Amino acid sequence: MPKKSLVVGNWKMELSYKGSVQLGMALKKEIKKVSLEGEVVVCPSFPSLASVAQELAGTSVQVGAQNVHWEERGAFTGAVSVGQIKPFASWCIVGHSEQRELTGESDEDVSRKVVVLLKYGIVPIICVGETSQERAGGRAMETIINQATSILDVVNPVALRRIVIAYEPRWAIGAGEPAQPDEAAEAMLLIRKLAVERFGHERAERLRIIYGGSVTPENITPFVDEPGIDGVLVGGVSVRPMKFLEIVRQYQG
Ligand code: PGA
Repeated sequence: MPKKSLVVGNWKMELSYKGSVQLGMALKKEIKKVSLEGEVVVCPSFPSLASVAQELAGTSVQVGAQNVHWEERGAFTGAVSVGQIKPFASWCIVGHSEQRELTGESDEDVSRKVVVLLKYGIVPIICVGETSQERAGGRAMETIINQATSILDVVNPVALRRIVIAYEPRWAIGAGEPAQPDEAAEAMLLIRKLAVERFGHERAERLRIIYGGSVTPENITPFVDEPGIDGVLVGGVSVRPMKFLEIVRQYQG
């Protein structure tokens, strides 16, 4: 079965509860006009997860969470468990650079989240990417190798088709300017090579690797055309339904 392209909207902490539900309603109405071949996922904040999931039930827009704890239950004030998101979310972002920065989330933390998500049949969308200092210091590839390796270490060959790796260079997030598509493709090829070394060509090809960082409908074309890029993770623009759907449309072409 050929792998499907993937467009993910990361709504971050941009919307009120009401705004999130309204955005869900707008997508529900408009997605019917798109002849969809790939997959589309939106990731609201926790408080609106259930309502947005209800709104989008039966449509071709799927719902994901923006984070999860690696423990299944316990005394973790403020955290949200995999069992708590499971009724509403079939996808979940982990390792986002904003979380890595805000909470000091480590590669090990991210791997533990991947393991618990796979246990519950939720697709982890795992973010990796270097900082501007790492890139300037010639350490971009090293960072990507370390982050991607710690994910591949906890994934078995069969699960490779049930995870997504999002290459999101931190310096391109919210920057208004994405990475150069060939620069992004180089990093993504490196991730693919790591998967090939470990799991062989055929299995590694099933892994979806997507790009994130300042994607807009205006700059998306070269990413769509790049064969090693299986989709995009969209932040800022994803809360604007018409723009988000324009990106979705371009990914169907
Ligand atoms: P951006 O965010 O599209 O606003 O750059 C992407 C992300 O953080 O996932």
